[in-house]
Amino acid sequence: MNTTTDFIKMKANGEKIVMVTAYDYPGAKYAEQAGVDMILVGDSLGMVVLGYESTVQVTVDDMIHHAKAVRRGAKDTFMVVDMPFGSYHGDPNEALKTAVRMVQESGADALKVEGAGEVLYVIKKLVQAGIPVVAHLGLTPQSIGVLGGYKVQGKTAEQAKNLVEDALRCQEAGAMAVVLECIPHQLTEIVSKKLVIPTIGIGAGPEADGQVLVFHDFLRYGSHHIPKFVKAFADVGEQVQKGMEGYIKAVKDGSFPALEHCFTMKEEELFSIYG
Ligand code: KIV
Ligand code: NA
Repeated sequence: MNTTTDFIKMKANGEKIVMVTAYDYPGAKYAEQAGVDMILVGDSLGMVVLGYESTVQVTVDDMIHHAKAVRRGAKDTFMVVDMPFGSYHGDPNEALKTAVRMVQESGADALKVEGAGEVLYVIKKLVQAGIPVVAHLGLTPQSIGVLGGYKVQGKTAEQAKNLVEDALRCQEAGAMAVVLECIPHQLTEIVSKKLVIPTIGIGAGPEADGQVLVFHDFLRYGSHHIPKFVKAFADVGEQVQKGMEGYIKAVKDGSFPALEHCFTMKEEELFSIYG
């Protein structure tokens, strides 16, 4: 399995880091078999798997439940788990307790938290306790109410400067990587050049040291809104829909099950039933 220093080496060598989200056992297995560098059990699970409007309804127990399944499916892949909304603000000692529980119960290799500011102290505290932490800047979906919608961040010079400073502070606090979501690609380049730790972009351009996409978005599985920055690499949803319709039709018209799907009794046994 990769370690936090392997990811820093990959950045130094110019090797792109590939991260995908996973939320369950089969998804994790596919990701590991395909050879991704790291898996994120994202709180995006609230939208793409649980059918919530946003990530703010997702609980610590939801994250642990799904992360355990992912761990079983991808034992040898570095697994990052999102700390959900409300679980790492307030009392930092509570945040640490929650983080320890998440790591111990799910088998996470690292946890991810959104934002800088007061969160920098949480990053430091977790890292000091021995928990690798991934930071997340730019569009931070847990603050969607404050940001006022899913919009590109860091477009003005002032916002961009703040983001660069926040990224440096996350690195200083001990973060192992920084996810950059929905920011101009030129800003991604600036941040990536300033940091020693890798940047993992989503909607942030090719200049990031790695990329992350949401499983259900890039494989097109589900009917949720898919952001502009996503490229579809498969159409799983179409296959599922076709399969469903085919099954219904076959049962209705009697073509399924066929003899090859049946268990058959020997003739003599059958004969003895009737006497
Ligand atoms: O929850 C998630 O899937 C994420 C990624 C979009 C980075 O945080
Ligand atoms: Na997330």
